[in-house]
Amino acid sequence: MAERIELAIPGVNPFLPHLATLKWTLDLTPDTKLLNVELLDPEVRKGFQYKPGQFAFVSAFGIGEAPFGISSVAYRDEGLEFAIRRVGTVTAGLHELEPGDTLGVRGPLGNFFPLEDYRGRHILIIGGGIGMAPLRPVINTIVDHRADYQRLTIINGARTPRDLVFQNEFDAWARSPDTELVLTVDRGDEGWTGRVALVPDVVTELAPSPENTVAIICGPPIMIRFTLERLKGLGFEDHQIVTTLENKMKCGLGKCARCNVGDRYVCKDGPVFTFQQISQFLEEVG
Ligand code: FES
Repeated sequence: MAERIELAIPGVNPFLPHLATLKWTLDLTPDTKLLNVELLDPEVRKGFQYKPGQFAFVSAFGIGEAPFGISSVAYRDEGLEFAIRRVGTVTAGLHELEPGDTLGVRGPLGNFFPLEDYRGRHILIIGGGIGMAPLRPVINTIVDHRADYQRLTIINGARTPRDLVFQNEFDAWARSPDTELVLTVDRGDEGWTGRVALVPDVVTELAPSPENTVAIICGPPIMIRFTLERLKGLGFEDHQIVTTLENKMKCGLGKCARCNVGDRYVCKDGPVFTFQQISQFLEEVG
């Protein structure tokens, strides 16, 4: 009997990309662009419902596809957005596209940040570099529903000031009530008057209380490793710290076994996990 494949959109083959048009792009940093795309088929567009944390494969036809966290929020209805850093052939192909060009989008895939469960809690967001891409919809959802959450603290780090993504949204985030946006860079430049410090050191300096707080972190593995240590030093427990993983993915549908953590698939069981879940999966397989 054929194995059942869960369909992201009922009636639509999840292995085939949906055709989409590139509406516009925005240079976020010298090597990162925001792509705003519109799915061509109105029925697919309607069915493409997603939540912060989910991802999709984006394809440059004739080159290939790669997975990206979705950076927009569905309810704003402003198009699907992906922040894409130029790191290889697929991302280079996507960077070369011009508004009006056709590309492919396969998804939405994976689980999401359970933001409804975090209502009434303080939210600490820690992002490094392009790790901010899947965190932007989390921030914007909280900013748009500000009364549902307690204090919002955003720590955003990058190598240099030019590498800070979503700079055009910093004012809106910082103006949101009871919100602190803390920017930090590894290396400043002549115009930078802000912090020059590594993200884990900023966490130690700010010393956020773990009381009724959820920490959501995403960034380079080394940043996550040291940030995790610092958070635990402040009294955060594994179940209060959430991340989104980026293991090598090919199918995105739990079929190719390329993306496992323990015996779970990042593409299907994740990519969003608490550190309690990650330790448990790793313990289960010894
Ligand atoms: S990417 Fe194929 S199983 Fe996860």
